[in-house]
Amino acid sequence: MTDFTGKTVFITGGARGQGRSHALAFADRGANIVILDSVEGASDSIAYDLPTQDDLDATQRDIEAKGVRCLALTGDVRHSEHIESAVKQAVSEFGSLDVTIANAGIFALRPAVETDDALWDDVIAINLSGVFRTVRAAAAQVKDSGVAGRIITIASMAGRMEFPNAVAYVAAKWGVIGLTKTFAAELGQTGTTVNVVCPTNVDTTMVTDNPDAATLFTGKDDPSEEEVEKGAAQFTKQGIPWVEPEDVTAAVLFLASPEARYITGEALTVSGGQIADNVA
Ligand SMILES: NC(=O)c1ccc[n+]([C@@H]2O[C@H](COP(=O)([O-])OP(=O)(O)OC[C@H]3O[C@@H](n4cnc5c(N)ncnc54)[C@H](O)[C@@H]3O)[C@@H](O)[C@H]2O)c1
Repeated sequence: MTDFTGKTVFITGGARGQGRSHALAFADRGANIVILDSVEGASDSIAYDLPTQDDLDATQRDIEAKGVRCLALTGDVRHSEHIESAVKQAVSEFGSLDVTIANAGIFALRPAVETDDALWDDVIAINLSGVFRTVRAAAAQVKDSGVAGRIITIASMAGRMEFPNAVAYVAAKWGVIGLTKTFAAELGQTGTTVNVVCPTNVDTTMVTDNPDAATLFTGKDDPSEEEVEKGAAQFTKQGIPWVEPEDVTAAVLFLASPEARYITGEALTVSGGQIADNVA
């Protein structure tokens, strides 16, 4: 288990779900944590509830209970100044920025021809521009400090293939992979690595408590839980409906570890073999 004692890990969208799982795992390994999450009111385009301030506070308490420090900041990845302020606070409070995880995102579903400007703009602003702004701020910090860092973005299998009814999400996630590879190339000489993790469905509110996702998996309004699991399982070669947040965390921890020092510009899938038959 890699020891991250004395390191600082910055995670967007860490109030719950995968971001929370990453935060707790790095805290377990001794890192101080900075979370930036918009909590309530991030978007009108989605059919599931966003976390509350109570969720963010609970995650902060759970991290601090592990004996490390945690800054839990309310802010929105659509605003560069919120991200830049979080990076500044990370460095001033904890002395460095070592690992950045651009994880915040939303999952909005609608047939492509019915996708209006508001939904498109929302998803692109959060899932693509928000990731760009986060990586840009982290890259500027590691360049200024001269300390090689680790930058990890979270895309999706929706960034590796088509996904009917998710045109904005798919476009954003393909874009995340492209921007990750570009930052990796530009930062290559600095020792900082930049990689992207592409999960299949993950057992978080975004998918397992989202009526639009249930309909996507089954083609039915109001399907049973069994129907949703069966529909979701068709995506993976292993026949699992979804992975757990901790499965994605394992990939993130590896990419942040010293063993991954020469891995950069890669898209690592955690997908139960979803595209095992892809020739590429
Ligand atoms: N759940 C899945 O099946 C799945 C699959 C592949 C990829 N992903 C991606 O994984 C990442 C994490 O999602 P999750 O599954 O943990 O879902 P989640 O909804 O549980 O967590 C997403 C977090 O992002 C935060 N967030 C949303 N908009 C924000 C904004 N504008 N600024 C700051 N924070 C914001 C939310 O408040 C929430 O805490 C997302 O990028 C998502 O697209 C999810």
